[in-house]
Amino acid sequence: MIHPVIMAGGTGSRLWPLSRQLNPKQFLKLTDSPLSMLQSTVARLDGMDTQNPLLICNEEHRFLAAEQMRQSGHEDSCIILEPCGRNTAPAIALAALQLCESAGSEDPLMLVLAADHLITDVEAFQDGVKKAVPLAKQGKLVTFGIIPHQPETGYGYIHRSTELATDCYSVDGFVEKPDLETAKTYLESGEYLWNSGMFLFGAKQYLAELELHRPDILSACRAAMADTSEDLHFVRVSPELFANCPSESVDYAVMEKTNHAVVVSLDAGWSDIGSWSALWDVSEKDANGNSLSGDVIAHQTSNTLVRADSRLVAAIGVDDLVIIETNDAILVAHKDKVQDVKAVVEQIRNDG
Ligand code: GDD
Ligand code: MG
Repeated sequence: MIHPVIMAGGTGSRLWPLSRQLNPKQFLKLTDSPLSMLQSTVARLDGMDTQNPLLICNEEHRFLAAEQMRQSGHEDSCIILEPCGRNTAPAIALAALQLCESAGSEDPLMLVLAADHLITDVEAFQDGVKKAVPLAKQGKLVTFGIIPHQPETGYGYIHRSTELATDCYSVDGFVEKPDLETAKTYLESGEYLWNSGMFLFGAKQYLAELELHRPDILSACRAAMADTSEDLHFVRVSPELFANCPSESVDYAVMEKTNHAVVVSLDAGWSDIGSWSALWDVSEKDANGNSLSGDVIAHQTSNTLVRADSRLVAAIGVDDLVIIETNDAILVAHKDKVQDVKAVVEQIRNDG
């Protein structure tokens, strides 16, 4: 039986002004779906033989998370609350420790998912997970690699090598967010996959690898989990002890270092919607390439994303823009510059 573990602790700052500290990307409805990104992640598991999902997110978002899980029919789900963000290696460790607590002699299989991914071909996703199960049961740490369609620089890449079974490969190495030239050579070679940030492995196996490569992270997480308080379905991690935990991604802490990494390739219409241009890429567009939502008039405008939440927005004679209107802030950006939204958010935070 698979235990889905959903990581929902990101800030999604590149989707400002819609994504906010108190209401970040994973809790928003970004596509045409009536579900939030988190709820779509949960719905993607329908029909699979899985346990109730385990959620791990920031303490600040506990009510939002619990309410969305309740709406998805998972009011019994355990929600681990992090007092501060320490990136994905510690988040997964907390979840693994929680699962091991009631596991007995078995090694519970954890399907680690990000709460903010879009996957249009759910069947292909579920097929990929099925292919990964026998490998994870053999003690492999399976990562899901997306067949790339463009030289994206916002993702990590996995260099695959020998094919072990259909769509399953051993791993030659990881490269986190390469520059454009490097990404182009990777795409041409056909040997590289995007690192989706989704994984399947045994919880005990993960903890053993963390012990080997980052014992400092493991001991900090063990200490923090030994001092939790529980109310309702929330597990609160000790703020003092978790603050001591080093911050590191699972990619750097474990996946790049382990000898047991394998990759299952997926072609499932995956995107992490990391920016407004990525959202435009996956959105339905009109004949002029515009993706318009809300009360919008677009005149002689092309290849533009306009989202109006509280007022009428009119665009005239503009191309390749992103225009996002919310109650208290408006973003107007060139589609090629949307990565810089993150810098604007930092500036806003610094200016207090
Ligand atoms: N609970 C918890 N706590 N979740 C976290 C934390 C944390 O401290 N930090 C990040 N997450 C969650 C985010 O919500 C997101 O769903 C996921 O973990 C990945 O974190 P990001 O911060 O979005 O990472 P990234 O997009 O820069 O890069 C990673 O994901 C890419 C694919 O989306 C890397 O793994 C890349 O190699 C990969 O291509
Ligand atoms: Mg991301």
